[in-house]
Amino acid sequence: MKKQILLVCVCLFAFTSHSQGSSIVEGEGGKSWTLKTKSAIYQLVVSGDGLLQMSYFGDNNQEVSRIGRPLGSEVTVRGGYSAYTPMLEVIFPDRVRDLELTFDRAEITQVEGYETLILHLKDKHYPFEIAEYIRILPEYDLMEKWIEIRNTGKKGTILVENAQSGTFFLPKDSYELTHFSGIWGAEYRPQVTKLTTGLKTIQVKNLRSYTPSFFAVRPEGETAETEGKVWFGGIHYSGNFRVDLEKYPTGLLQVTGGMNFWDQEINLKPGDKFVTPKLTIGYTSEGMQGVSLNLAAYAREKILPAAHREQVRPVLYNSWYATTFSVNEEHQLALARTAKELGVEMFVIDDGWFRGRINDHGGLGDWTVDKNKFPNGLQPMIEKINEMGLDFGIWIEPEMVNPNSDLYRAHPDWVFHYPNRTRHEDRNQLMLNLAREDVYQYLYKSFHTLLKENNIKFIKWDMNKALSDPGFPSAPTDEQRAVRVKYVENLYRLIENLRSDFPDVWFEDCAGGGGRIDWGMLARMDFCWTSDNTDPVERIFIQYSYLNAYPANTMISWITHEDWHGQNHSLGYKFDVSMSGVLGVGYDITKWGDAEKKIAKEKIARYKDIRETVQFGAHYRLVSPYENNRSVLQFVNKKQTESVVFVYNLAEYPNNAIRETQQSSIVRLRGLNPAKSYKIEGFQGSFTGEYLMSRGIEFPLRGAFRSQIYKIEETL
Ligand code: DGJ
Repeated sequence: MKKQILLVCVCLFAFTSHSQGSSIVEGEGGKSWTLKTKSAIYQLVVSGDGLLQMSYFGDNNQEVSRIGRPLGSEVTVRGGYSAYTPMLEVIFPDRVRDLELTFDRAEITQVEGYETLILHLKDKHYPFEIAEYIRILPEYDLMEKWIEIRNTGKKGTILVENAQSGTFFLPKDSYELTHFSGIWGAEYRPQVTKLTTGLKTIQVKNLRSYTPSFFAVRPEGETAETEGKVWFGGIHYSGNFRVDLEKYPTGLLQVTGGMNFWDQEINLKPGDKFVTPKLTIGYTSEGMQGVSLNLAAYAREKILPAAHREQVRPVLYNSWYATTFSVNEEHQLALARTAKELGVEMFVIDDGWFRGRINDHGGLGDWTVDKNKFPNGLQPMIEKINEMGLDFGIWIEPEMVNPNSDLYRAHPDWVFHYPNRTRHEDRNQLMLNLAREDVYQYLYKSFHTLLKENNIKFIKWDMNKALSDPGFPSAPTDEQRAVRVKYVENLYRLIENLRSDFPDVWFEDCAGGGGRIDWGMLARMDFCWTSDNTDPVERIFIQYSYLNAYPANTMISWITHEDWHGQNHSLGYKFDVSMSGVLGVGYDITKWGDAEKKIAKEKIARYKDIRETVQFGAHYRLVSPYENNRSVLQFVNKKQTESVVFVYNLAEYPNNAIRETQQSSIVRLRGLNPAKSYKIEGFQGSFTGEYLMSRGIEFPLRGAFRSQIYKIEETL
């Protein structure tokens, strides 16, 4: 009852700013805060009875000096009326299951260069404390939220049944949600759904995230690409996650995100602390374009591993589609020679190089070279590849084991399993229980040795099985259901330690295509393999969606002979599609004649000419393949002196197309300097940025499955 009364009687009150110009403004008495980004504000207030509440998240045109009526608790709990999606659910040693949190104190500090508000809350009775962190990244219109929970008692274990990273409320309105879901070969399919009364959950339960945690909420009907309010975000976590969007009968919407505690619990012993992964949330009034501009820049400039963040991504060759498991030194060298001739910079051998790996029935786990295929070992071959002027990379799948391997024969207890239960295989493999320290040590030693003994400059890290049978029988009973948390901790530790031992090595994230792409991985890997579907038309759709949330310099895209719809697409079309990310080649290029090589050389040279703008520029999704018979992408460099436009036709204009359909080829560019003048390849004269952005231009490309890349440069 108290909570309900409170919701209606908290009145507006004014306060003066303590820290003008900063992104966190504390109200008088230290009981309210306004958090400011470029275009949003987020407001919190401590109500009369000590509850921490959020009262506003949206446009910064609202009077910053006013705190409105609270919308809901800043840290929702199971306790009292339990009306809202809880962030926290715990059981105390005496079996009390309710939490009663009150505000204790706040601090404003810096976390890695950004102002961060830390809000300390305490249970009224039990030794349980929470620190909520809110880190503001104003230039990206983003905030990161996470919580630390502690058992501050001297005796007794607190059972944590749920600990989410953050929540926020939006006032009553009609909202719709955009998110992505996918399966192998069809990643990143956009889903748009109205949020009706009830709960919509986006989640992963088996460590495979073909469905990413990305969400974007808009007022219903406001779907323009370049304008309109959007609340958006995602979770920095490569394990199980969930995002809950709960719409209440009053019209209020609550969005909550963090780890998925389905079949999971954590026991906090006296003195223990648990920290959730980060939930990033943002607000823009510039539609989905605002979302993608902010999120792409955020990942590119703040999340990606610092070592390679500003380095140009190399042109890759990958052998998978050319050879599958049939790799050998002679053929790899032949591929590498041709790759070099074409302009490739990094030669990557995919699956099949290690002991017992003649097909996918054996070998995973035994990470030493197959002497039948490479009698001299890897290093002599790598030296020859290096002498050609190419760097060398290699495929690994650390987290899996084939039952047909020496590792499994020696350690059948190292995989996830329950006694008396089936061990479910997929692709003839089981999953190593990386929560175990001995498994961690084995993997660390295997890959440290591989990287130390061979001049490897690139790792493709694959993961091809979903988690099943998540038993950990050798662990103490009260740790068994925390196995997935420990697994992800050790996965991160393994990648981080290998990266710090070998800082020059590039890492590619792969999970049977794009099955594990998230900010947790992007903080540790330099780029991702978005899909095994390399059909250029399919790829146009996948890439268009992927670029909604992530930058182009993380999107590896190879051209291959794969043709999913029997349409026999031209090599030029395939190259143009792959050139809007990080270009790779995956054909058996030893079979190529002069004509193919000529196209490839020209395209790779062209990519090298435009790649800085593609890899580091802002991207604009001008024409959606989901709504048109073509797709147009534009990249603009930071100085606004160069832009690259990719035009991909999907189909001919339909017969008897009405004039309006044909006029859709006029495209208004974005992101240029309106006052500057630009020339466009293939066009006479020059155009002002203003003209190109307001009047637009028609790119004269006709015909199904044809493409063109236009470079646009400032004229001096
Ligand atoms: C799945 C990956 O997505 C492919 O690119 C390839 O590396 C295979 N695994 C190899 O087994």
